[in-house]
Amino acid sequence: MALTRRKLLLNIVAGFGAAGLLALIFPFLRGMLPTLKNVEARVVDIAAMRDGEMKTVRWKGKNVLIVKRNPESINKRPSQLKSLTDPFSINSLQPEFAQGHGRSSRENFLLVYSYCTLLSCELKRLEIIGEEGSIFEGFFCPCDGSRYDTSGRVIKGSAAQYNLSIPNYEHISESRIRLTGA
Ligand code: FES
Repeated sequence: MALTRRKLLLNIVAGFGAAGLLALIFPFLRGMLPTLKNVEARVVDIAAMRDGEMKTVRWKGKNVLIVKRNPESINKRPSQLKSLTDPFSINSLQPEFAQGHGRSSRENFLLVYSYCTLLSCELKRLEIIGEEGSIFEGFFCPCDGSRYDTSGRVIKGSAAQYNLSIPNYEHISESRIRLTGA
């Protein structure tokens, strides 16, 4: 009997000890969280990108297109909104910061997943070649010809109905973007 009580007391003391230890190390664990989050990230160097240039990077098993938009590719003209199926990207998948017309964190850079929203075919870039080089004009889908504007918004008359999905990312400096989350 005495032995059982002693055992019980020892268990209680051990329990308090474990709880105390947890309380002690919790602030350290919390401090480590940002580091743990960074494991799920990819940093992309964009320093060398020229106006109009597009690069493809792999992120979580999918291709992401990064475009450095030419100044004339940044769509600010309200008249063009009539030609879009979902001009305000109400039905699209995008981070909160990408809900404006540019659908991006900074207006000269656009990041989109590289897949048509109809049947996920890989997109091609639309461009015109001007005197100063290639001007980015949006995207088209080689499968059924759906077209997207320079913010990845689907153009009316396309078979696809949804704007391109946008990954979560942040500009961590003038020359680097970090892809994070989904
Ligand atoms: S998958 Fe893009 S239009 Fe068919």
